[in-house]
Amino acid sequence: MPRFLSAKPDARLIPLPWSTPLSQWPAEHLVALPRGISRHVVRFITVGDGVFAAKEVNQELALREYRLLHDLMRLHTPAVEPVAVVSGRVDDAGEPLDSILLTKHLDFSLPYRSLFSPGVRHDTVIRLLDAMVVLLARLHLLGFMWGDVSLSNILFRRDAGSFAAYLVDAETGELHDRLSDGQRAHDLGIARINIFGDFCDLEAGGLLDESLDPLNLVDTIEARYQELWKELTGIEEFSGSELYRIESRVRRLNALGFDIAELDIQTSPDGQRITIQPKVVDAGHHSRRLMRLTGLDTEENQARRLLNDLDTYRARTNQQHVDEAVVAHEWLTECFEPVVNMVPADLADKRDPAQVYHEVLDYRWYMSQREKREVPLTEAMRGYIKDVLRNLPDEVMSRAALVQVQNGDTRQLANPYDPSMGFATDEEEPAVHDPWEEAAQDVDISSLDHFDIDALRAKKG
Ligand SMILES: Nc1ncnc2c1ncn2[C@@H]1O[C@H](COP(=O)(O)OP(=O)(O)O)[C@@H](O)[C@H]1O
Ligand SMILES: [Mg+2]
Repeated sequence: MPRFLSAKPDARLIPLPWSTPLSQWPAEHLVALPRGISRHVVRFITVGDGVFAAKEVNQELALREYRLLHDLMRLHTPAVEPVAVVSGRVDDAGEPLDSILLTKHLDFSLPYRSLFSPGVRHDTVIRLLDAMVVLLARLHLLGFMWGDVSLSNILFRRDAGSFAAYLVDAETGELHDRLSDGQRAHDLGIARINIFGDFCDLEAGGLLDESLDPLNLVDTIEARYQELWKELTGIEEFSGSELYRIESRVRRLNALGFDIAELDIQTSPDGQRITIQPKVVDAGHHSRRLMRLTGLDTEENQARRLLNDLDTYRARTNQQHVDEAVVAHEWLTECFEPVVNMVPADLADKRDPAQVYHEVLDYRWYMSQREKREVPLTEAMRGYIKDVLRNLPDEVMSRAALVQVQNGDTRQLANPYDPSMGFATDEEEPAVHDPWEEAAQDVDISSLDHFDIDALRAKKG
């Protein structure tokens, strides 16, 4: 009998075929979803309405990664959520099998292979790089040394007009009290080498936009990381007559989405010179505030956008003197919920609710500009559903990685459950037939890239 280690046991997992090596699991338990390159056998398995990522790996590593992911969750880091470690597996012949680490599949995560593809906009690329840089800096602030930063070990999610990056592979990670500059430099060095390799692979496969250069991309990552780190932790010195600079440092960090939990302020004996240095910095300034006010759990930029809308609502309804929490509740029931509840059930897999709301606000803005009138939110939502949402590929589990666009032709993977097995050749049928694959034929890679407001305007104009 296998052993389950889990903080939140899910009884539906118990009857799965644990005595079978993961690579031979029957297709009825699997879903073909995009994923990065991996060392181990990794499969996505379905149980009821849940989807989990399963990784077959030796017990020691599985337990270690499970615990690290748990620590990261406790520290509110964007990382995949650990579910269980299944160990003590034996096959039908009584031979021992490796353990399996189960994590919750990260819904709405985007495969990086389609994100840098030909036609991608320059500002989209910068946003993707920034999302990676923020993730790395957040991990470093917590004392987490990743040891294996690569594009395959990062998942991206839409976050208003930007992206949020998640850690997916913590196997080589180490959690320390704090990291030395040397440790951070080491991690960044690994990131450079791996990500450079990943971009070169994309380039070789014709999947990297021609205007992008791998070396330039990793240089940008490094430069932006150094910039962010300096802003987050650097010492600032000024004269005693410039005390406003304390406040402006706090505001700058808030604008980047961080809160200062501890600021070290030192004054020279004569009071002429003041030095400040943030000592404890927490990410998620806006998302925490939105969560406190409304209970909505969103990405950082989505939260910023929603909070702006809440402020606008407060001003428009003349409630500046009313308690913020009261107005927030009203905004939730008068604005947010009616709009996201309008999403037809068959379109619910396209975007998460906060992203829908953000995109409707954009849509409404352009519609109001064009028609020179104040468009009500529900009217904009109807247009958005018809013009935008209905035409988007599903993203809750994007199937785009099943489609590899190369030199204009579309090829299928040999095994949709395992991209590492390469492509099916013309003569051979795919090893496993999968209905998801047919749907994937219809996915338009270019439309995955961005909520393209320009295209939207052109269409409407
Ligand atoms: N919880 C998850 N949600 C979404 N994708 C996942 C999840 N876990 C793994 N993956 C995908 O599977 C790939 C391999 O997983 P990873 O943990 O990196 O394995 P390895 O240790 O073998 O590199 C990742 O690149 C990612 O694309
Ligand atoms: Mg990996």
